[in-house]
Amino acid sequence: MVLRLVEVTKALGNQRVLEGVSLEVQPHERLCIVGRSGAGKSVLLRLILGLIKPDSGEIWYGETNLVPLSERALAPLRSEMGMVFQNGALFDFMTVEDNVAFVLRERRLPESEIHQRVSRILERLFLKGHEKKMPAELSGGMRKRVALARAIVSRPKLIFYDEPTAGLDPIGSTEITDLIRCLNVEFGATTIVVTHDMRSVEQIAHQVAFLHAGRIYKICSPEEFLSSKEPVVRAFVHGLVEEPAVGTC
Ligand SMILES: Nc1ncnc2c1ncn2[C@@H]1O[C@H](COP(=O)(O)OP(=O)(O)OP(=O)(O)O)[C@@H](O)[C@H]1O
Ligand SMILES: [Mg+2]
Repeated sequence: MVLRLVEVTKALGNQRVLEGVSLEVQPHERLCIVGRSGAGKSVLLRLILGLIKPDSGEIWYGETNLVPLSERALAPLRSEMGMVFQNGALFDFMTVEDNVAFVLRERRLPESEIHQRVSRILERLFLKGHEKKMPAELSGGMRKRVALARAIVSRPKLIFYDEPTAGLDPIGSTEITDLIRCLNVEFGATTIVVTHDMRSVEQIAHQVAFLHAGRIYKICSPEEFLSSKEPVVRAFVHGLVEEPAVGTC
């Protein structure tokens, strides 16, 4: 097992966001975490990455519980993880190639190797010819691909994508989901994708975990999830409103 969460809780402000999340992720698996906006999906990713600490519970990465670790002890483990943030989080003052090379330079790899790895990954993600552009000169889909390139170039064992298809048209969205699947197959990194996009779930997931009311309400195959008859799951999948708002026409 790569990752195991045991009864993780987290309150933020005066809100109990996660009330006991337990979850297991197997090596090389592609897991989609879904749930309504505000359910706590991004918070869950930040907890796994150790960017914030849970109030209680355990987060095991292989044989290590990350929760009690100091920032210093976490750093080498976090360097085995890659993250594509919900907003892309590119450095706006750096070119595409410098953005992608950033982590490798931090790790003091030889420039010749950095150059080779960066140009390979940019070619793989259809960004060849755009190396010298600044993020502001890219389309939304290209920015997402640069964010993917930046996360994958360091060859992480575990990779997280937060809403990788948000804001993309259906073709751009399929392009990204295809890439996520292929990169998982080619590099073997265990892949966790947070999304509300049911098409992405169908295209990517081995397993789907539905975060609802602070817990993993259901975990199953995408086929089972998408055809579930459970009212809460059905409402989520089909966008049904449970209680019509007063005054709707
Ligand atoms: N730093 C913070 N301080 C206070 N509350 C926070 C903080 N970060 C998140 N929250 C709250 O935690 C809840 C879960 O937020 P989170 O960003 O994880 O939602 P999400 O499931 O990722 O939603 P979306 O699909 O819209 O991205 C929200 O109610 C949010 O307001
Ligand atoms: Mg989010």
